[in-house]
Amino acid sequence: MTQDELKTLVGQAALHYVEAGSIVGVGTGSTVNKFIDALASMKDSIKGAVSSSVASTERLQALGIKVFDATEVDELGVYIDGADEIDHAGYMVKGGGAALTREKIVAAQSRKFVCIADESKLVDALGSFPLPVEVIPMAAKRIARQFAAMGGTAVLRQKDGAPLVTDNGQHILDVTGLKIADPLAFESQVNQWPGVVTVGVFAFQKASVCLLGTAAGVKTLVF
Ligand code: 5RP
Repeated sequence: MTQDELKTLVGQAALHYVEAGSIVGVGTGSTVNKFIDALASMKDSIKGAVSSSVASTERLQALGIKVFDATEVDELGVYIDGADEIDHAGYMVKGGGAALTREKIVAAQSRKFVCIADESKLVDALGSFPLPVEVIPMAAKRIARQFAAMGGTAVLRQKDGAPLVTDNGQHILDVTGLKIADPLAFESQVNQWPGVVTVGVFAFQKASVCLLGTAAGVKTLVF
């Protein structure tokens, strides 16, 4: 099976976690796009969605799914999102699609995080994928120096020859060369640096379940 087919498989499998009459939290990325497409088949039996990005909002609305603002909803039963890396404890690196801050907010609002991913995302330890960090632009250089002091190399993400601007009007640093041995401690530490909006380690908002697309079908990991 191709990676695209594995993404379709887990996107469809995630429908099992969506309750009729509910509002579902929706992440961002190519795997989530498969989920959104599958969710269209349930659009008349759910109230709608809370979205983690402009891109997902546009896709949901184009399929006729109502999108609620996060502030209109107290708690969500389930949040469905992809990951750039997920380890065997359900800790993740996210933000390859630059939506990490809103993703963490919607995840924090949800009782259950269902991660959907193809098997290439499962890792023994986080840190191979360049770690996305959303930063306030004026702090980017100092934060890059702080990562250098930890042995990392931070690069400002570009789009069309200029720094990428997130949905929140901020920038993204992608950091390589880090060892993330203790995801909870790492997330706590980096989140305290002035100018960091969100670090892409999802340890406090880790996955409850991962639907992993494999050649043998969907494997369910429960954390
Ligand atoms: C976006 C994300 C995505 O969940 C992550 O990048 C995985 O994306 P894809 O499903 O396209 O591989 O965190 O900010």
